[in-house]
Amino acid sequence: MRDAQPTAIQLTDYKEPAYEVVETHLRFELEEEFTLVTSTLKIRQLGESNELFLNGQELGLESISIDGRVLGEGEYTLGDESLMLTGLSAEHTLQVVTRIYPAKNTALEGLYRSGGMYCTQCEAEGFRRITYYPDRPDVMSVFTTEIIADAGQYPVLLSNGNPVSEEVIGGKRHVVWHDPHKKPAYLFALVAGDLLVTEDSFTTCGGREVALKIFVEPRNIDKTAYAMDALKRSMRWDEDVYGREYDLDIFMIVAVDDFNMGAMENKGLNIFNSSCVLANPATATDAAYQRIEAIVAHEYFHNWSGNRVTCRDWFQLSLKEGFTVFRDACFSADMNSATVKRVEDAGILRTVQFAEDAGPMAHPVQPDSYIEISNFYTVTIYEKGAEVVGMYHKILGAEGFRKGTDLYFDRHDGQAVTINEFVQAMEDANGVDFTQFRRWYKQAGTPVVDVLTSYDSGAGRLTLTLRQHTPDTPGQTDKQPLWIPVQLGLIGKDGSPLTVTPDQEEFWTESSQVLHFREAEQTFTFSGLEQEPAVSLFRDFSAPVRVNYQQSRETLRFLLRHDSDGFNRWDAGQRLMLTWIDDAREGRFELSDDDINVYRELLNDTDLDPAMVAYLLALPSESYIAEFSGEIDPLAIHSAREEVSGALASALRDDIVACYQRLNIAREYEPDPAHMAQRSLKNLALSYWSRTGDDGLAAAQQQYQKADNMTDQMAALRALVNSGDRMRAQSALDDFYERWQSDPLVVNQWLSVQAGSAEMATIEHINDLLAHPAFDWRNPNKVRSVIGAFANQALSRFHSADGEGYRLLADAVIRLNESNPQIASRLLAPLTRWKRLVPSQSQLMKAELQRIMQQGNLSKDVFEVVSKSLA
Ligand code: TRP
Ligand code: ZN
Repeated sequence: MRDAQPTAIQLTDYKEPAYEVVETHLRFELEEEFTLVTSTLKIRQLGESNELFLNGQELGLESISIDGRVLGEGEYTLGDESLMLTGLSAEHTLQVVTRIYPAKNTALEGLYRSGGMYCTQCEAEGFRRITYYPDRPDVMSVFTTEIIADAGQYPVLLSNGNPVSEEVIGGKRHVVWHDPHKKPAYLFALVAGDLLVTEDSFTTCGGREVALKIFVEPRNIDKTAYAMDALKRSMRWDEDVYGREYDLDIFMIVAVDDFNMGAMENKGLNIFNSSCVLANPATATDAAYQRIEAIVAHEYFHNWSGNRVTCRDWFQLSLKEGFTVFRDACFSADMNSATVKRVEDAGILRTVQFAEDAGPMAHPVQPDSYIEISNFYTVTIYEKGAEVVGMYHKILGAEGFRKGTDLYFDRHDGQAVTINEFVQAMEDANGVDFTQFRRWYKQAGTPVVDVLTSYDSGAGRLTLTLRQHTPDTPGQTDKQPLWIPVQLGLIGKDGSPLTVTPDQEEFWTESSQVLHFREAEQTFTFSGLEQEPAVSLFRDFSAPVRVNYQQSRETLRFLLRHDSDGFNRWDAGQRLMLTWIDDAREGRFELSDDDINVYRELLNDTDLDPAMVAYLLALPSESYIAEFSGEIDPLAIHSAREEVSGALASALRDDIVACYQRLNIAREYEPDPAHMAQRSLKNLALSYWSRTGDDGLAAAQQQYQKADNMTDQMAALRALVNSGDRMRAQSALDDFYERWQSDPLVVNQWLSVQAGSAEMATIEHINDLLAHPAFDWRNPNKVRSVIGAFANQALSRFHSADGEGYRLLADAVIRLNESNPQIASRLLAPLTRWKRLVPSQSQLMKAELQRIMQQGNLSKDVFEVVSKSLA
């Protein structure tokens, strides 16, 4: 907690470190009440300065010595969060002993207790809560870790690298780990606990055998198989697709219940939020399986994109996160349906990321300042950053892209670098000038592309005019044109693809069908067309932009039927549905026969991937609709969407029932793409059917009772909860809790299905959930399951006219500000959007932000978000 106004860190203030840490030796003595940390550093001067600056936070300093001589109080300067030593010479051994209190650590940064175990989270700046250290990613060191703990209570003691020794002396277990790879402190990890392990092995392309181990608390030992399978597939994929081999003899994953984020890529010892690694068919949904596959891959891929080549400073965060998200997205696309993955990712961009870009926290993929770095683990850094990497792939093609990454990894192995080095490698490997493209990293905000087309039937020529501008964002005006890859297709009247080559060939890449749109306004012509084509733009979501292109409903239905690009088929359908929602808001919605027919065809098209059909038939979510609205009116959005949904369900009722019955066959649960696709369409059909009357609800009840897997059980429960039939909903919820109360990951799903439901999530009900014995404010997953689900999903409840939803969220933020600032700050996101809401709501939201601002002792995390929101 702070006294003075926190200050912003600027990218332009970057200075190289004065000392390097050649070797880091850490000794942890884990006692019941506290932990003693002895850090022994071999330091060496790098430049002119002989000031050694060490970060430290909430540490009890026991002693400092240099080359074996204990320093007196006048021989160092102890700041609030720092330790300074001056007048040193070139090389020394520095030893610092600190006392820390992991059991009291509720922020879950540094060393803390989760359940009966100890674990660490050091990214971004958690290591400074363990010992005094130059806690910055450009200081890379070789770590040796010694852990001493009660042998009975903590039979498993882990750290990075390879095990060196283990012995038990007088009831204490002593272990030593050594990591031969230089790394920044943020990749350090330690785990101690009474854990069980699942073991397997992987033989690398170079023929080395790697031991794979997943450690869990004993009750979870039946939930490790899928993560292990995903890990082996990830290791093989990184060899095949990027030529990257694993580099230690052991790779470990540990599951912990209390964790601020999804998972962490610590060298050789990944630590996971248990919700992102544990699964079995009875307890985890298909969505959870897919999340596990993606996150296991993500953390594994960091071994190269993040660990071997790391970031110079935290302004470069997207260097590792954007790139690694791109890598895990391609992996998931290869393992499942590429189109479905693209639809899901575009959905996240268009809702969460576009909203961030349009709000007070908007920042570029490479920010230029921050108050608290934890606030910058955002969808912009991760997901927009991944889209930016993906655009190199679009522009250069797969081969050129691979040349670029090969050069990047080879040139910078063992270094801490900047985003610029990544771009430079892409340029050098391909002989392409990306000067203009670099603007994607510096300019915040979502570019808007306006499209005009006209067809000259006499000349057989299509004219396409594109205009781009990027709106102002806080602190940024007058943005320059970006290099936007526009993947393009033209479709003939009979639905078949036409060959496309613009007359301006210098702006066209044939192999990837990409048009290079680089000016504020650019006109392209396509000659020699015998008929007016339908235009399919931004195929495969080729750039993270908003597009304004008026196409008739007839054209949208045509694209929905015929576009060979699956992503644009879906996109055309969503655009069509958004026109229905608009009509409903104006009180003049009616489904036309043409609309009904196209959706009926899709529902019955058994050649299509059922997962894709499910996406094609799903209405845009309320937050998606909100992002496509001017002023946001959540209640109007909710009722319009309900009306459309009900109309579609009754118009297609017979086909929906038939689809459900066709797919509702008893099969053994498999978490593979074909089975998951079948379940997703079946459960979409159930969600529509259950809106049409009693037989649909009876079907949901029956599925709930019969289900042998959580996907089907949860889908049925959700249908019942959202049906508005209180009796049926409550009896299923009671039954569910009764059955699953001893499994916290399942109970979290039970919490969030209620908290995120427009039908159930009244303030009274949310308060009941918060008071429920299953709830725990110290566990981030539980907080997300109730408060997060409520504020991000049950929009019509959260935005209730009396402002009670806002009050509840602000109270939660105030409460968590002290115990867990990272979680408090992340929960705030929905309130930061206040300027976009209708005025009555907007004022209520602002008042809650002001109330938070008036609290004393705001953490840097919460202070930054609230103060920027009110600015
Ligand atoms: N690097 C982690 C990732 O894979 C992010 C992360 C995990 C994190 N835990 C964190 C970031 C805690 C900040 C704080 O994306
Ligand atoms: Zn990551």
